[in-house]
Amino acid sequence: MEINGLNITEKEFDVVIVGGGGSGLRASLEIAKSGLKVAVVSKVFPTRSHTVAAQGGITCAIASADPNDDWRWHMFDTVKGSDYIGDQDAIEYMCSEGPDAVFELEHMGLPFSRFDNGRIYQRPFGGQSKEFGEGGQAARTCAAADRTGHALLHTLYQANLKAGTEFFNEWFAVDLIKNNSGEISGVSCFDMETGEVSAIKTSAVVLATGGAGQVYEQNTTSLICTGDGLGMVLRQDLPLQDMEMWQFHPTGLYGNGSLMTEGCRGEGGYLINSEGERFMPNYAPKAKDLASRDVVSRCIVQEILAGRGCGDKKDHVLLKIDHLGSDNIMKKLPEIREISMTFANVDPIKAPIPVVPTCHYMMGGIPTNIHGQVITKNNQGEDEIVNGLYSIGEAANVSVHGANRLGGNSLLDLVVFGRAAGRHINDDVSKSSQSSLSKENIEQSIMPLVKLQETKAGESVFALKAEMQNIMQSYFGVYRNETLMKEGIEKLKSVTEKTKKIHLGDKSNQFNAERVEILEYLNLLDIANSTAYSALERKESRGAHAREDYPERDDENWLCHSLYFKNNDEVKKRKVNLSPKSVDAFKPKARVY
Ligand code: FUM
Repeated sequence: MEINGLNITEKEFDVVIVGGGGSGLRASLEIAKSGLKVAVVSKVFPTRSHTVAAQGGITCAIASADPNDDWRWHMFDTVKGSDYIGDQDAIEYMCSEGPDAVFELEHMGLPFSRFDNGRIYQRPFGGQSKEFGEGGQAARTCAAADRTGHALLHTLYQANLKAGTEFFNEWFAVDLIKNNSGEISGVSCFDMETGEVSAIKTSAVVLATGGAGQVYEQNTTSLICTGDGLGMVLRQDLPLQDMEMWQFHPTGLYGNGSLMTEGCRGEGGYLINSEGERFMPNYAPKAKDLASRDVVSRCIVQEILAGRGCGDKKDHVLLKIDHLGSDNIMKKLPEIREISMTFANVDPIKAPIPVVPTCHYMMGGIPTNIHGQVITKNNQGEDEIVNGLYSIGEAANVSVHGANRLGGNSLLDLVVFGRAAGRHINDDVSKSSQSSLSKENIEQSIMPLVKLQETKAGESVFALKAEMQNIMQSYFGVYRNETLMKEGIEKLKSVTEKTKKIHLGDKSNQFNAERVEILEYLNLLDIANSTAYSALERKESRGAHAREDYPERDDENWLCHSLYFKNNDEVKKRKVNLSPKSVDAFKPKARVY
């Protein structure tokens, strides 16, 4: 089929998964095993997806380190960590299903580190407790040294090859395709190697496109983390949820941004200021350096603001692990040593590592139920399922992380909800039939490509992206207030205006990186706006959203999700689920560590 001078090839699959990271591959595995025809469209080779960068581990009550560990303690920690806006039905599902999902990975061959008794190694991570917060620090994060995501991703990729999943590697997904009845019925995409454009017809699209850390100037994420699925959802007039909630990891490598795993502190490392003082006990007497991430990040910023930052600029702190001994570091944190030596010229066996809070994770995302089905609000203000559209992993907001994610809960989220979505699709898709797609349906979806090809002059994506990242970093960082955010919104309006004149200089087809970068940037800009308006709207401090002008949590008005719609930058409220099935709900209380 030819549209606007572009030759479009047509393909057909029962299910199309956009994204080849941990959640996408766990879903595709479940679907391929059932015999449905499933395609994974991934803009990078799947084992280069950002899951590969996850270091510290996958948190789950498998009771290796402590035979009495209980998924309900994990659930309590996660609800508390979320500052009570995590949905308790979803958290209950993740924590109770977790052990089975982790043992399944073990049986697929994931090379976990081991205790001497042969059981999977577990390390302590931030915000973990026993006995519902009363029994001291737990050790619940299952690890493969400090390369857990790498091990997990390779395991899942190999299992998919065996199961017959079809891969479209280095293909970029442009947009969703709707049929004449307005239902999601396909995806448009192009092969980055050749420029071939394709329309894939399908009964179910799963958006597993990961996070969007590239929206901030300083982040721990790969360049590919541009929230492409979120952009697609916003363009369909569907909402994003809790987009004001961004996690700043306390220990991003200073000057470089690479993650220095929380496992460093889990293994006994701690933070010091310019006076050599271990400062976390002053702020969190019980959990100390293993308080949850939002807390530790704010404490570091407080130390820096008080003039106790390190270095010439007094703008970072130090992570000390040298006392753990070289054997321990080589065995449990080998990657940390290598990254620190390569990018900071510091051997952590001999000296502390310079670190600073760095954007790490998007708690918000595409709202879904526990089956991964995307949810919107209908005209009566009720939740409504969007037929044929699923989302999982960091792209989704199911919501298990609420206002602050606990370390190691991301890998668990990927495999538990990847599998859940796969199971639901297996039951559902066989019952539905694929409707046909018209030329007009496809044309609408590939319009962004056509328009770019027609640009003759205008703004460069590289300058626009840098400007947007700088605005997000300066106006929507760890601490926020109304004046600052309103100023930030004005600046975003100006970038948004300039973006209307964005220009594609390189019109060639083979590995056209500029074309990809523009499409990614357009998604990022939508995400930046969703964050800005949601953050301005939420007039309280909760989890990662710390407002100087509203320093307290306000459960009366804000124990709710925020829903952002691109149309008019509208922000609505949505109820938090406080009704788990098998346990009593955890009632909001003051969050102390
Ligand atoms: O610190 C870390 O290893 C990161 C883990 C996570 O974000 O879950």
